[in-house]
Amino acid sequence: TRATVTLDRDFTVGPVPRRLFGSFVEHMGRCVYTGIYEPGHPAGDENGYRQDVLDLTAEMGVSIVRYPGGNFVSGYNWEEGVGPVADRPRRLDGAWHTIESNAFGLHEFVGWARKADVEIMEAVNLGTRGVDAARALVEYANHPGGTALSDLRRSNGAEEPFNIKLWCLGNEMDGPWQIGHKTADEYGRLAQEAGKAMRLVDPSIELVVCGSSSSGMPTFGEWERIVLDHTYDVADYISLHAYYEEKDGDAASFLASAVDMDHFIESVIATADAVRAQRKATKRINLSFDEWNVWYQTARDGDDMPATIEARGIWQEHPRIIEDEYNVTDAVVVGTLLNSLLRHGDRVAIANQAQLVNVIAPIRSEEGGPAWRQSIFWPFARMAQFAQGEILNARIRSDQYATQRFGDVDVVDTSATWDAATGRVALFVANRGLDDAAEVTVRLHGLAPTRVERAEVLTIPEGGDRLASNTVDDAENVGLVALEGVALDGDTLTLSLPPLSWGWMLVE
Ligand code: AHR
Repeated sequence: TRATVTLDRDFTVGPVPRRLFGSFVEHMGRCVYTGIYEPGHPAGDENGYRQDVLDLTAEMGVSIVRYPGGNFVSGYNWEEGVGPVADRPRRLDGAWHTIESNAFGLHEFVGWARKADVEIMEAVNLGTRGVDAARALVEYANHPGGTALSDLRRSNGAEEPFNIKLWCLGNEMDGPWQIGHKTADEYGRLAQEAGKAMRLVDPSIELVVCGSSSSGMPTFGEWERIVLDHTYDVADYISLHAYYEEKDGDAASFLASAVDMDHFIESVIATADAVRAQRKATKRINLSFDEWNVWYQTARDGDDMPATIEARGIWQEHPRIIEDEYNVTDAVVVGTLLNSLLRHGDRVAIANQAQLVNVIAPIRSEEGGPAWRQSIFWPFARMAQFAQGEILNARIRSDQYATQRFGDVDVVDTSATWDAATGRVALFVANRGLDDAAEVTVRLHGLAPTRVERAEVLTIPEGGDRLASNTVDDAENVGLVALEGVALDGDTLTLSLPPLSWGWMLVE
């Protein structure tokens, strides 16, 4: 397989949005309880935050975390998660058929986010609740003091306001499964009025309206158009959610998932800009891809599947739910999904991999036990750390391969950045081919490269296959190794990527 990538100093997409490296913590399964929070764990600090999970979150380079859901938020009363823990009610969470103890709530999350050094993206409940609860939460969180709600926060131990800037107006309100599911008109009106009232409390906040919960929804497109028509004045961003999985052993199509993501992003941009044109607006609505990942929803049964949990009819606290174990193929797909997000960084301003720990997550942890990195941890961690400065408009000519779902697709997929401050180019490149190495030539026009500083690759480990993964007993089976043989001659870089691999390199 051969591919040629052309990068040019003068052809940039825009600055790398730091919020592209977001994650998501939902009250779901073991993401909060025994994930980020486990009082009494040997690695737990005085607040019960797991330091081992905090360390891995920092190593991943997570910039922003969405909270508290997800489907969970559409039945959540935020007031029940504040105040003395002993007084907080235990509740049934219908979204995940789980008992919510409310031991962890807003203050605990803010404390965790500060320790993790991540920005908070807070969702309000527009399923069972509405304008009043949403504006009350903004007042509680962001108003300095001197009102009943802000003084309640102070008496609950937080003298200073939380100053949460980014807010989601509900979650997946287009989905029939959502508690309080709405039509586009119903949701659009409610989001407009909730957003307006929230901004009357704190004019500095930014607002995300719900787009479709996947591009496969029957209402996709129309939903975005109608919702933006109602909310254009109040919204800053519209959300996108997408989960990918290998179906029926069709690895070729699965590996091309980023083609679908590119198309989804471009369709939402087109729809948002059509509403803009029709309204003769100057303001642009940007995109918040606030749930994305690989998630084996259909291909696998198991005790940790939501349907099984519900069918058992047992209500439990923090049961295991969708604790997917990720393999080499998944890591290559995640690398290409990150490429897609970065390539669209002029319009995709926020992205959150779902979720952070245990629940379809790059980090796993066991109750009372260790925490470890899944295969998909690596592309995220390297890109979050090294995609700096400007996104380069990478032009690629690649050999193609046939897929059932997307037709002919480039075997090699890439994205790149250039940092004027350090003079460094970071290149992220995947070989989707299952059988052949990819010989890649990269032309670095106007970038004056002098040396390859670092190059690594994630691929099938020796003696393993494309389904190799990391487990609690073998946590470093899949990871990064040095990519040998990367050569620089003038402004031309050559490299060879093994079959089914994701690599990255730093040139300066
Ligand atoms: O991330 C898991 C779930 O997927 C979220 O709760 C929901 O928003 C989506 O359907």
